[in-house]
Amino acid sequence: MSIKVTFVDPRGNAVEATGEASDNLLRVGQASGLPLEGTCEGQMACSTCHVIVAAEWFDKLAEASEEEEDMLDFAAGARRTSRLSCQIDLTPVLDGLTVSIPSESNDARKM
Ligand code: FES
Repeated sequence: MSIKVTFVDPRGNAVEATGEASDNLLRVGQASGLPLEGTCEGQMACSTCHVIVAAEWFDKLAEASEEEEDMLDFAAGARRTSRLSCQIDLTPVLDGLTVSIPSESNDARKM
């Protein structure tokens, strides 16, 4: 089953992406050309994969681990519904998920 995700990029443009169950949200976003750096490749050693989850979707995600919460403290522009996209694996329940990429995010590939 395909799972649709909408990313809202830092300029406010909605980008539709599609993944499969157990695909990683960071990878799905990167594959769609979104500015998610993901420097540490999912090791929870950076926060460059930070996304802000739409409030109505936040409670559908598996809870963040303590390590993830700690790393989010360093994320620029973090909000109450912030998550590290590398820690989110898609499940059928997340079909329709919407996340925003904060404008504070830096993409080293574009510097
Ligand atoms: S890719 Fe580094 S914390 Fe997600």
